[in-house]
Amino acid sequence: MATKEHKDLSDIVKGTHALLRAEYQRYGAEVAWEHHVSQNDVLQKYAVSMQKLATKCWMENNLNPRNDTYCRITWIKIQCREYFLNGGKKKYDERERDISIKMALNEASNENFQISNDNCGYMAKELQNTYERRVSLDVLDVGSCYNPLGDEDIFNVTAIDLTPATNTVFRSDFLNVAIGKEKILSQDERELRQLAVNSFDAVVFSLLLEYFPCPRQRYICCRNAYDVLKNGGILIIVSPDSKHVGANAKLMKSWRYTLSKLGFMRIKYEKLHHIHCLVFRKCICKNVAIRWADLHSFSKDDEKYISDEQIFIPQDFQNICFKEKQKNITYEYDKNDLISTFSELPFDNKAFQ
Ligand SMILES: C[S@@+](CC[C@H](N)C(=O)[O-])C[C@H]1O[C@@H](n2cnc3c(N)ncnc32)[C@H](O)[C@@H]1O
Repeated sequence: MATKEHKDLSDIVKGTHALLRAEYQRYGAEVAWEHHVSQNDVLQKYAVSMQKLATKCWMENNLNPRNDTYCRITWIKIQCREYFLNGGKKKYDERERDISIKMALNEASNENFQISNDNCGYMAKELQNTYERRVSLDVLDVGSCYNPLGDEDIFNVTAIDLTPATNTVFRSDFLNVAIGKEKILSQDERELRQLAVNSFDAVVFSLLLEYFPCPRQRYICCRNAYDVLKNGGILIIVSPDSKHVGANAKLMKSWRYTLSKLGFMRIKYEKLHHIHCLVFRKCICKNVAIRWADLHSFSKDDEKYISDEQIFIPQDFQNICFKEKQKNITYEYDKNDLISTFSELPFDNKAFQ
């Protein structure tokens, strides 16, 4: 059963999400985001509440077998180990190479040209250096809040957040961070101003994408992840959804489509009780990833979920209405809105009863 503290903390987190979403509906993505990131007091309160929820309330509920919110961190660690240390990467390197050769052969038979070119030669070179025994993995945890991955020995974690809850997390807005040749910190070393291209083995978005009210912002985050990942690196996404696996299958397919177009191959998908857990690999040959999107067709009904440059979540298809009361703006949702907006988040008290 949820305690009063648990409920109060959840309300702060939910309220922040609701306000941002309502401002987005009203003023558009850029204005809403600029206003949001300028509200230090709101963000600070959110950071403290989120940390307490995750490290206290959800941990206490960890004995409940239906609680996936704590084990998301374990799930992420296991995926990294499986992929980098237990043969996963090698398997997908080989699969990618095979597909790449097949594609080149097809092209050669269609257009009468030699296989020894572009993709295959490039890929062979990339693979040469890959199989040394890895001792440390460079991991970027975006929206880290309290650095939950920081205690894993084999991770060299760069944790970033709009508002860090601990001093092991750098301040940085991943939507607007520069990406260039090298990492650049602010003078006091608290803020990360630029990330280096192709520099991380894994990028983690744990309960991050739903924070953004706008589908295009979610896409920009995925594109930035692509840019900072090394070839063959992985993007791990954990996304809340307490519905059954089929309920949002169309959205999961649309994510796969959009990320394929970016150059990611989906290599793992698991639906736990409250969360979707996904791993995408940054393909060495971008065309191998794009091939999945090109080979898949969508029904007329599904087309509204498909976009090359937007990542949708269920809340995008629900209506929000708001009204102004005196000087304060209050936001009204109908009951179904409220339930579907937040029961997908693991902040819903019912999840722990
Ligand atoms: C729901 S919390 C998830 C915290 C943690 N990853 C976890 O799984 O418990 C979402 C976090 O994302 C952060 N965030 C949202 N937008 C961000 C951005 N553009 N750049 C960096 N962090 C962001 C928020 O400040 C918040 O701490």
